[in-house]
Amino acid sequence: MELTSSLPKFRECSGDRKYRDLSPVDLQTEDNLNLWRHLENLAQISGREITSLRVLDFGCGRGEFVGYLRSKGVQAFGVEIDEKLIASGAMLETMYPDSVPLLSLVGSDGKVGFPDGYFDIIVANQVFEHVAQLDGVAAELYRLLGTQGCLLTLFPARFRLIEPHYHLALVHWLPKGALQQAMIRLLVRLGFGVPPPGNMSRQMMGRVIAEYAQCETFYRSNKQIGGLCSARGIELDFRLIPQQMLSKKLERLSGLKRLAYVGLAKLLPLIALRNNFKTCAAVGRKHRL
Ligand SMILES: C[S@@+](CC[C@H](N)C(=O)[O-])C[C@H]1O[C@@H](n2cnc3c(N)ncnc32)[C@H](O)[C@@H]1O
Repeated sequence: MELTSSLPKFRECSGDRKYRDLSPVDLQTEDNLNLWRHLENLAQISGREITSLRVLDFGCGRGEFVGYLRSKGVQAFGVEIDEKLIASGAMLETMYPDSVPLLSLVGSDGKVGFPDGYFDIIVANQVFEHVAQLDGVAAELYRLLGTQGCLLTLFPARFRLIEPHYHLALVHWLPKGALQQAMIRLLVRLGFGVPPPGNMSRQMMGRVIAEYAQCETFYRSNKQIGGLCSARGIELDFRLIPQQMLSKKLERLSGLKRLAYVGLAKLLPLIALRNNFKTCAAVGRKHRL
């Protein structure tokens, strides 16, 4: 959807530091370490050394994870639709020079400048919820993935209680439109959600967030996302990553704590709860269209 309004952008009002120039300290984060662990598991499953794989970070922002992967010797690249973010990640091009740019722009036709089947792993971390035309993106991911390649996608679950960008409860469950807009504006005026910057009224911040919800977030159920990807040739497995995380958690626990957690896992559908009410992490593989 085109953004036609002259309101300030939510990202610029929310204290998000992503438009600041990237620096080496931004690479060594807990988030990157967690993503790295998922990638190591996927490489292990495919029986390959992670450093022998080509990785694309789709919707890479300033390229924090691309830089992290490069620091581990992985041939990683990132693509983005936001030119300003690519400019903020310019440091990477001097830190890890390559024959092609590490970070590049997705074309206005949604195409990415890499050949068919070029990547072994594509990561789309916290991106799908920002994509209006997910079927177009899924088609491009299909084109870019090698036959044995896999997609790792993580996104906030549709039924999370608190929306993770603007921090309001439940309003993202509502359909887009007048009611959602009015609820957001009201809650922000009442003092909920991400506070406005010093020079902005709550009323204005409510409008900024309402527009962001309308034009820049697109919550879909896992079933819808699975269906859209499948129609474009990528079959998503929603259980693999949470299962691995559960086993890793159990490995770390001992004694009574372990027993209690095993009991809890038997009683509650922990994986389904995580997938639907927290963060969904799915692994996609190509199938024949
Ligand atoms: C919440 S940020 C996540 C950035 C990064 N993946 C991370 O984990 O820090 C979502 C990013 O996806 C990008 N994005 C949204 N739609 C996209 C698309 N169709 N193609 C490529 N990038 C996209 C946005 O510009 C934004 O930088």
